[in-house]
Amino acid sequence: MIKIVFATNNSHKVAEFSSCFEQMGVEAEIITIKQTGFTGEIIEDADSFEGNAFIKAKTLCDYTGLISVADDSGLEVDALGGAPGVYSARYSGENATDRENIDKLLFELSKLPNADRSARFVCSLCVCRPDGETLYVRGESDGIIIDELRGEGRFGYDPVFYYPPMDKTFAEMSSEEKNSVSHRGRAIEKLLKHKDFFTE
Ligand code: IMP
Repeated sequence: MIKIVFATNNSHKVAEFSSCFEQMGVEAEIITIKQTGFTGEIIEDADSFEGNAFIKAKTLCDYTGLISVADDSGLEVDALGGAPGVYSARYSGENATDRENIDKLLFELSKLPNADRSARFVCSLCVCRPDGETLYVRGESDGIIIDELRGEGRFGYDPVFYYPPMDKTFAEMSSEEKNSVSHRGRAIEKLLKHKDFFTE
């Protein structure tokens, strides 16, 4: 049984994490930031997914004295030079809703009518151990940004992220389908190859 603090208050990430672990047959007790009692602000001011994941994992590891993992993720759109990237959560401003971020993304792409729509989701996971050891894994998933929103499920940019091999957007997939091909699912699969890192 793995016991870890997951340095997030994003309920969608927690749900995907738990279901990935379950799908991969790994028993884990996942403690979220709220459950640790941590109320401080974490400033994610690094310019890479890895840097921001480290800031979150290290903060919670120092606070709890427990092994902590953080997910920093986002969408990179080639025609926008990799934007929104590390700014994905706040692309249309601080506290932006998912819908506002999608609207801004489609607006920016509408200015480039002939541009290629290729994009990728990236997920960097950083694990910090109380003895100072750190582990990084990264998962990516390639897709295409479409103009209409398709699907009700999931979160963030899922309704406009079309994944050709399944002929579905991420929002149209079941959670098992999304976990099997998503950036987060792929990163977690890599993470679970290092189970000894959690127990040493
Ligand atoms: P973070 O919490 O700073 O890592 O921001 C991640 C942001 O990237 C989210 O708020 C979403 O906008 C976007 N994102 C990350 N993963 C996903 C996903 O699986 N689906 C849709 N959007 C995602």
